[in-house]
Amino acid sequence: MNNLLMEVENGIAVVTINRPKALNALNSETLSELLNLFTEIEGRADIKVLILTGSGEKAFVAGADISEMVSKSVKESREMSLLAFEVFQKLENMPKATIAAVNGFALGGGCEIAMACDIRVAAENAKFGQPETGLGVIPGFGGTQRLPRLVGKGRAKELIFTNDMVDAQEAYRIGLANKVVPAAELLETCKTMAGKIMSKGSFATQLSKEAINQGMDVDLVNGIKLEANLWGVAFATEDRKEGMAAFLEKRKANFTGV
Ligand code: CAA
Repeated sequence: MNNLLMEVENGIAVVTINRPKALNALNSETLSELLNLFTEIEGRADIKVLILTGSGEKAFVAGADISEMVSKSVKESREMSLLAFEVFQKLENMPKATIAAVNGFALGGGCEIAMACDIRVAAENAKFGQPETGLGVIPGFGGTQRLPRLVGKGRAKELIFTNDMVDAQEAYRIGLANKVVPAAELLETCKTMAGKIMSKGSFATQLSKEAINQGMDVDLVNGIKLEANLWGVAFATEDRKEGMAAFLEKRKANFTGV
């Protein structure tokens, strides 16, 4: 991998997009590497939670790589967006929890990849924005779809039309960031959250993620039916027996993920 780093410890994979000279901008090579790495992580039983971050202290990801995009034809830019679609779908539907540790600028494709994670923790210096219309294009890695789902249509339109950046506190206020922490505590906060998630039934976490992700795309009644079915599936697991028995026996549950 030329553009990514990965460290795995205690069930947590920290993936760092590592192109600091370009503020970790996403070029096609990085997108292809992300696709391969996410596929690997998906299949690795030793990885329970994925934390995604950017290299250096200035940026999470400053967008798609403008120096690469500048010469792209219609066909090539469409191919790039479809590659990103594949990468982001894999990330969004990964059967494990994902946390974006937003350590600086999260612009354009950077804001978009953070939104494809389950949870966003922002450092105090983080800045989010969708500056694409200022480049004569529109958000191309899911921003027109995921941003309104997170912050509502009106705020999403304002951010996309004006290109205004929001700081970490404002991102928190509008629901784009789950939490804001000092930059020095960012990774530790994400790891603590990952630990909390891992202490629960991992299959139940996976099923609840499926219910939320799929349910957001259907009407309420069908979403609730989907939830009822997945709830039923959870009842067939060992973790359900263990979790309920542990509660009644007033002890800590020992989940195995099956
Ligand atoms: N693509 C390629 N290179 C980028 C980049 C990007 N998105 N963002 C920053 N860089 C490069 C700069 O060109 C610069 O390189 P050089 O040192 O070789 O000149 C280096 O990173 C440092 O950047 P700056 O000197 O600009 O740093 P700054 O502190 O003055 O500004 C910034 C920081 C506000 C983030 C500014 O870099 C910026 O505006 N970047 C572009 C942000 C952007 O428009 N992103 C959206 C891209 S389009 C997109 O993502 C489409 C989509 O939906 C998929």
